[in-house]
Amino acid sequence: MIEIQNVHKRFKAVHALNNINLKLEPGLFGLLGPNGAGKSTLMRTLATLQEPDEGTITLNGTDIVKNPDSMRRVLGYLPQDFGVYPRISGEDLLDHIAVLKGLHNKKERREQVLALLEQVNLTKHKSAAVAGYSGGMRQRFGVAQAMLGNPKVLIVDEPTAGLDPFERQRFLDLLSEAGEEKVIILSTHIVEDVRDLCTDMAIMGDGEIVARGAPEALIGKIKNSVWRKTVEKPDVDGLKDKHKVLQTRLMMGKVVVSVLSDAKPEAGFEAADPNLEDAYFAHLYKLI
Ligand SMILES: Nc1ncnc2c1ncn2[C@@H]1O[C@H](COP(=O)(O)OP(=O)(O)O)[C@@H](O)[C@H]1O
Ligand SMILES: [Mg+2]
Repeated sequence: MIEIQNVHKRFKAVHALNNINLKLEPGLFGLLGPNGAGKSTLMRTLATLQEPDEGTITLNGTDIVKNPDSMRRVLGYLPQDFGVYPRISGEDLLDHIAVLKGLHNKKERREQVLALLEQVNLTKHKSAAVAGYSGGMRQRFGVAQAMLGNPKVLIVDEPTAGLDPFERQRFLDLLSEAGEEKVIILSTHIVEDVRDLCTDMAIMGDGEIVARGAPEALIGKIKNSVWRKTVEKPDVDGLKDKHKVLQTRLMMGKVVVSVLSDAKPEAGFEAADPNLEDAYFAHLYKLI
């Protein structure tokens, strides 16, 4: 449905998008990567707010760089820095945004606004000022505004950053219910966001897509190659010099070191079941 081919974007010395190639079908797609990876640049480019320097992006065969309206007509977008929190009620603000999006029939608009407020669980707070919403309520409001007009493509950029665990789960549930017929692209630097939810994902680092596939498939690639050992803190640096260390995790004053290796790295390491975090670091650091 969306096809990204050989896309590049540079900002002076920074190669923010370095030869991106992706085909996206309807469903929830997770774009996982650390800060500075290029996630927001890719999403802004897909949202036609920015043009690529090179490459093509098509939506059902139509070039969206040449025809940005073909994307804008079907797009809902929640930017990373959605900053509209005025002192008017959630219902009034949503109605206002709906007018800007071209929903001119007052009755239909009101029905859609109320249905969306219900869907994102804000009915109780629809008359309260958006300025007073909590972080989670703001993000759910952000999704409601993105879903006005029933978009076929929904792009949400780091929506879970800053949410507490309860708000985060509620937000992710909302996305997974948003509809299987939409292409939903969720960017995040949090592995758990994609682990339970996305059937398809990509790992992005330094402007490149370094891995692509279902979470289980990415984990499958490092099966039988992950080893863990609990060590004292001063021993960690020595292990990092000798082995492909995936991650280190503090555990009750000690450190659990995870290493990628075909064979047992050294005495004391136990074979471990790989998780998505292991797979994330293995690809991000290009260890496989
Ligand atoms: N408008 C811009 N001007 C200059 N550099 C930018 C601009 N937008 C992004 N960058 C740079 O491009 C890289 C990727 O940024 P970004 O797409 O925001 O990554 P992410 O969203 O994954 O954190 C970073 O090095 C960032 O500093
Ligand atoms: Mg970003």
